[in-house]
Amino acid sequence: MANKADLIVGIQWGDEGKGKIVDLMAQKYAVVCRYQGGHNAGHTIVVGDKTLALHLIPSGVLNEKAINIIGNGVVISAEALIEEMKQFGDLRGRLFISDKAHMILDHHILIDQARERLRGAKAIGTTGRGIGPAYGSKIERSGHRIGELKDTEKLAKNLVEYFETYRAIFEAMDIVTPGFDELKEELDGFAEALLPFVEDTTSLVWSSLDEGKKVLLEGAQGTLLDIDHGTYPFVTSSSTISAGACIGLGLSPKDIGNVTGIVKAYCTRVGNGPFPTEDLGEDGKRLGENGHEFGTTTGRARRCGWFDAVAVKYASRINGCDQLSLMKLDVLDGFEKVKICTAYEIDGKRVETLPESLENITPIYEEFDGWSGSKGANRYEDLPKNAKDYVKKIEEITGTKVGLISTGPDRDETILM
Ligand code: GDP
Ligand code: IMO
Ligand code: MG
Repeated sequence: MANKADLIVGIQWGDEGKGKIVDLMAQKYAVVCRYQGGHNAGHTIVVGDKTLALHLIPSGVLNEKAINIIGNGVVISAEALIEEMKQFGDLRGRLFISDKAHMILDHHILIDQARERLRGAKAIGTTGRGIGPAYGSKIERSGHRIGELKDTEKLAKNLVEYFETYRAIFEAMDIVTPGFDELKEELDGFAEALLPFVEDTTSLVWSSLDEGKKVLLEGAQGTLLDIDHGTYPFVTSSSTISAGACIGLGLSPKDIGNVTGIVKAYCTRVGNGPFPTEDLGEDGKRLGENGHEFGTTTGRARRCGWFDAVAVKYASRINGCDQLSLMKLDVLDGFEKVKICTAYEIDGKRVETLPESLENITPIYEEFDGWSGSKGANRYEDLPKNAKDYVKKIEEITGTKVGLISTGPDRDETILM
C-alpha cells in the first residue's frame, strides 16, 4: 500500500529548531523534501563539534542514504544553491530540484532591498533575499522556472524584454538591469551546475510513496509567518503551514501522514511586526543570551519573549499537529519564574482565539516556578519536576501532546516521550 508523507512544520515565527528535528528523523527516512520558502530559511544542524547551516538543501542531506527534493513551491536562487551544494561533494542521485520551482533572480533581490528602503519605518525586516518579489513574479505570471534553464537564449531574451517594458520602474528604484550577453553568461553557468539535478519531482515523490518509501516533508519559516494565516503584512511570501506541502510538492491532502509541530519552550521573532509576549526587559535579554538567539541567515538578534499558548493552539489546529516537539527547554534553566500567555486582553475583553491582527494586545500570563538542570537531559525521568509541570501545562492548554523534548542543540540532547 502507498505510504503517507510525514511532515515537520514551524509553529511560531521560525527558528524553532526544525533543522535539528529533521536531521534526527531523516536517519529513518528515504526521502526528505522542502516545499516552500527559499534561502531566507536557516536550519542549523549540530553533530558533535560540527555545526552546519542549511538554507535550501533539505536537512536530510546528512543521511547519505536519503535522497533530497527541492519542490516546486520553493523559490531558488541558483547562486545560493550552487554555493550551498559545494559543502557536500557530489550530490548527483541524492538531490533533485523541481523543474517547476521558480527562480530568484538578481533583480528580485534588488527590488526586495529597494522596497524595504522605501517602506522606511514600515519596513517588514525581510532577509533581503528576494523572496517577496520572486513569489510576486510567480503570482503575477511573469516569473521564470528552473526548467527554463534548458534554453538560456530564450530565457535571457524574455528577461531583457521584461526589463525594457518596466524600465521606468527599475530606474525609479535605482536598479540597473543586466544586458543580454551578461545575463546569458550567468544563466549558462546556472544551467551547467543545476540542470543535472532538475527533475519532475512530483512524479518522484509519488513513486517514492507508491513504492512504500518513507518520505519526510520539511517546512521552512513558521505558521505565524504564513502569507494567509500569519501576522500579515509582517510575514514571508509563502504558505508555511502544512497545507503548503501539498501545493509545494504536488501532493494531495490524502498523502499527508503524521504532522509534527516544532515549537520553542519560549518564543522568538526576527524582523518587524507584532509580538504580544515579547519581553523587552531583563528576561527577554536573558532568553536571547541563554538561547544564542542570533539569526542563522542574517545574523540579526532575535526578539525574545514568553510562550504564547493562544498562538500555539491556533497553529496546532491549522497544521493538524499530531504532536509537538518542544525545543530549547534548557534555555529556561535558572529562571526563578517562567510565564505562559494563556489568553489576550483586547479592548478590555478576554480572548482565547487568535484575532486578525496581533497589534494592541495585552497578554494575560500564568506564572510558574522555574527550575534548573534540564540541559542535556535525554530521559523524561531526569527532568526537574517544575519542568515536567511546565510541559504538562503546555499540553493541557494547547490540546496537543508533546512527543519530544529538546534540551540542547546536539542530537543526543533529546527526550523521546
Ligand atoms: P530552524 O530554522 O527552525 O531550523 O532553527 P534554527 O537552526 O534557525 O535555530 C535554532 C537554534 O537553536 C540552532 O542554533 C540550534 O542548533 C539550536 N537548538 C536546537 N534545539 C535546541 C535545544 O533544545 N536547546 C538549545 N540550547 N539549542 C537548540
Ligand atoms: P527558518 O526556516 C525566522 C522572516 C524575516 C522577516 C519576514 C519576511 O530558519 O525558520 P522574507 O525575507 O521571507 O521576505 O522576510 O520573515 N523570516 C524568518 N524568520 N526564520 C526564518 O526561517 C525566516 N525566514 C523569513 O525575518 O521578518
Ligand atoms: Mg532558522
